[in-house]
Amino acid sequence: MQRLEKFVDPLPLLNTLQPSNKTRNGAHYDITMEEFPAKLHRDLPRTTLWGYNRQFPGPLIEAFRDEPVSVTWHNELPNRHILPVDTSIHDLDKLPTVRTVVHLHGMETKPESDGHPDAWYTRNFQVTGPTFTQRTFHYPNHQRSSLLWYHDHAMGLTRLNVYAGLAGMYILRDKHEASLNLPSGDYEIPLMIVDRSFHPDGSLSYPAQPNDADPNLPNPSIVPAFLGDTIVVNGKIWPYLEVEPRKYRFRILNASNTRGYRLSLDNGEVLHQIGSDGELLRKRVEMEEIGLQPAERIDVIIDFSELEGQTIILKNNLGPGADPADGMGEIMQFRVTEKLKSKDTSNLPVNLSYVPSLKQDEIKTVRYLKLVGSTDEYDRPLLLLNNLKWHDPVTENPQLDSTEIWAFINTTNFSHPIHIHLIQFQVLDHQTFDLERFNEDGTLLFTGAPQAPLANNRSWKDTIEVPAGTMTRVIANFGPYTGEYVWHCHILEHEDYDMMRPYRVITDERKDKK
Ligand code: C2O
Ligand code: CU
Ligand code: CU
Repeated sequence: MQRLEKFVDPLPLLNTLQPSNKTRNGAHYDITMEEFPAKLHRDLPRTTLWGYNRQFPGPLIEAFRDEPVSVTWHNELPNRHILPVDTSIHDLDKLPTVRTVVHLHGMETKPESDGHPDAWYTRNFQVTGPTFTQRTFHYPNHQRSSLLWYHDHAMGLTRLNVYAGLAGMYILRDKHEASLNLPSGDYEIPLMIVDRSFHPDGSLSYPAQPNDADPNLPNPSIVPAFLGDTIVVNGKIWPYLEVEPRKYRFRILNASNTRGYRLSLDNGEVLHQIGSDGELLRKRVEMEEIGLQPAERIDVIIDFSELEGQTIILKNNLGPGADPADGMGEIMQFRVTEKLKSKDTSNLPVNLSYVPSLKQDEIKTVRYLKLVGSTDEYDRPLLLLNNLKWHDPVTENPQLDSTEIWAFINTTNFSHPIHIHLIQFQVLDHQTFDLERFNEDGTLLFTGAPQAPLANNRSWKDTIEVPAGTMTRVIANFGPYTGEYVWHCHILEHEDYDMMRPYRVITDERKDKK
């Protein structure tokens, strides 16, 4: 399809959803998944999407620390999918085609509210999956302020449900953050970045099979990666935003299936990064460019105060397709054309938060977890964690409130953003090893000293890029709840097949009984 003209539609600003009711037990929301038409670009016919409350991104939820939120996520989707469903994986031919379950990514909550992939349900809860227990999910919000996001997590369908539009953002605030006097109100803007492809009639394009697929492959057949040719921010294709000459705070999420970005400004100004996935950083860092893998979030301040009248492009320097001629090298445009409404009294603080290091904790267990490439019976790529599939029994059982190190050993040729539910972790280091040697005889031969994470990855994280041929170690304290959670690669095509594993937080007694 011909490329759509850039920067012709204004960036949609997201409205905060009002709760359906508020009681002593917190705010309750009813949110409904539905099919709806959306105008994503001036020159593109309407696109059929799936969205929460007929919106893409879904409605913004704002919460305050220690004030609980509950949500009933209603499924009113049609019974046929708008995208090609591969039923050859996970015995999906035996299950209803359209299944959903919502995960609030980054939230510390009980397993029943975490959106376990097998806790799926169909329209109006008619059919429910094996781990489904309740219709309303509870979010305690007993954690640090941050940008979280909710998205579909149904087993074997996550890539398609999210691509169809089932993703939204959730901002958790607290007193400490409020005391910093960061840009707020109209000057704090959440941005959800995704890549998509379209047919000329406006419909979403997602491959039914890999390019030049073997005729023996199932049809549809899952693809090992998806890279779109169009950028969509807050539901508009390559939008622009008119800003005042002052500081703005942007809460940025990469909600793409596979694509990672490296963001920078085309005028050479730095991005003042103040937060990452799980909280503010200890100290502000000035970044010339910031890597953003699927599911990662960054909290940045851009200072437009000296840029009156200028046009600035938020660029992406990470391929494929990132060279300017290819289109994917640009995300959106800022136009410093608005008059300053009032003096900018917000701060750009250096010291942001106290983040205690977990390194001094007693380490109960170190787990070595391999990211492995293999092939399935059709000779398709099958990516695995520790050579196990999603439905194999639990092998990781951290004890409640114990601190563990998880060492991810990436033996494949590309990086994987690894995400652990329930907890926020700290990245210890990345260490390269001889990948060729490993693939020959399984020897793990390190080729360098452990490297500290980048300065902007030294706070709380729940998703981290594990580069090819490295061992990346993270440290976390497991709790405050027990039960079954999951960890996985957040490239959705990998997560669905089959880079996802259950893990269980257990108590001592339970372990003794075994
Ligand atoms: Cu955002 Cu299990 O993932
Ligand atoms: Cu998550
Ligand atoms: Cu992966």
